[in-house]
Amino acid sequence: MTQDELKQQVAQAALKHVVEDKVVGVGSGSTVNFFIDALAGIKGRIEGAVAASEASAERLKKHGIRVFDLNGVSELPVYVDGADEITEHLHMVKGGGGALTREKIIAAVAAKFVCICDASKLVPVLGKFPLPVEVIPMARSYVGREMLRRKSQPVLREGFKTDNGNLILDCHGLTILDPPALEAELNNIPGVVTNGLFARRGADILLLGEPAGVRAIPVKR
Ligand code: A5P
Repeated sequence: MTQDELKQQVAQAALKHVVEDKVVGVGSGSTVNFFIDALAGIKGRIEGAVAASEASAERLKKHGIRVFDLNGVSELPVYVDGADEITEHLHMVKGGGGALTREKIIAAVAAKFVCICDASKLVPVLGKFPLPVEVIPMARSYVGREMLRRKSQPVLREGFKTDNGNLILDCHGLTILDPPALEAELNNIPGVVTNGLFARRGADILLLGEPAGVRAIPVKR
């Protein structure tokens, strides 16, 4: 099975978590694109979606799925999104596509976070994938120095601006042994908008695409 087939398989499996006649939260990335395409098949059974990126919103609209502003949505039973890395505790590194801030906001609102990944994303320890940190442009150098102090090598994502008009530092070399603690610590650096650790609000269930099929891994509480 190719990686795309694994992604397609989990995207399809996520449909059964979508709640009928409600708005569904939709993340971003290549796995989510397969989910959006699958969602088109049941669009008559949902009220619409909120999207974590302009790209996802465009794709949803092309399929004729109504896209809501999050501020106009009072109830969001489910959010479906991918990850760049995920542990068995369902802590994640996200933001490879740069949409981490909006993803984190929608994840916070949603009652249930369903993470969809191919098997390559499951790791024992987070940090091999460089941790994306969204920063206000004037804080770029300061936050970079703060990351160096934490033994990480920040690399500015060249030619990239987030949907919020900010910059991304991809922070290499971290071995993240306590994701909730590091998430909180990095959030406290002035100028950091969001960091790509999703641990304080992790996923509730992981649908992992493996050659043998989709494995559902619920969070251990
Ligand atoms: C986007 O900002 C990310 O958080 C994505 O969820 C993550 O990069 C996964 O993307 P793929 O599904 O393309 O691997």
